Amino acid sequence: MNPFAWARAEILHTAWKRGLYQPPDRRVLEHEILAELARDATVERVLFVGVQWYTTRYPTHFTGASPPKTFATIDPAPNVAQFGGKPHAVGQIQDLAQHFPDVVFDAIVMSGVIGFGLNDPPEVDRALAACAKALRSGGWLVLGVNELKPTHVDPKKSPASKDFEPRAFGKRGQDRIDVALPFRERRHTFLFWQKR
Ligand SMILES: C[S@@+](CC[C@H](N)C(=O)[O-])C[C@H]1O[C@@H](n2cnc3c(N)ncnc32)[C@H](O)[C@@H]1O
Repeated sequence: MNPFAWARAEILHTAWKRGLYQPPDRRVLEHEILAELARDATVERVLFVGVQWYTTRYPTHFTGASPPKTFATIDPAPNVAQFGGKPHAVGQIQDLAQHFPDVVFDAIVMSGVIGFGLNDPPEVDRALAACAKALRSGGWLVLGVNELKPTHVDPKKSPASKDFEPRAFGKRGQDRIDVALPFRERRHTFLFWQKR
């Protein structure tokens, strides 16, 4: 990263933490993807994987819907539970069935998790298999990945990806959205898969 790009990224990070800036991938995630799922009458139960200080507003899109929808969350780090939805589980997505037994989700959103802790191909496969098991047929799996990150694992190469098919999502009508980032990661990609 050249020094100007680095300095710009530092300034934008600070502005983001102070609530003065929202990165472009966050805008797409919150105002297009989550807003679309919240509007969709066939989506009542959503699972959001991995929470942080910058995800705290996300549940409001669902809890504020009429009628209110469920925005469940899961993250293995106990110190981020305060940022979770309701219900929130402390655990890994691979062990979803242990934490939410018998819950059938209409959509699962897992952005910034593959390559950000979930970095091992067999574990990515377990995670996708757990999502497939918990989703209803036709339910959405929205993956957010940084394909240029060295720790990235391609979910399309995972055997469990056979349980899903790419499908056009929302107003853009695409099964994939690439968002350029002003940060070191350079690009964030959303993949829209539907459970077969
Ligand atoms: C970069 S943050 C992404 C937060 C959020 N998902 C988002 O909108 O980008 C990565 C989060 O994923 C969590 N995480 C890492 N491995 C995980 C796993 N196997 N299951 C669930 N969450 C995991 C981390 O604890 C961390 O809070």
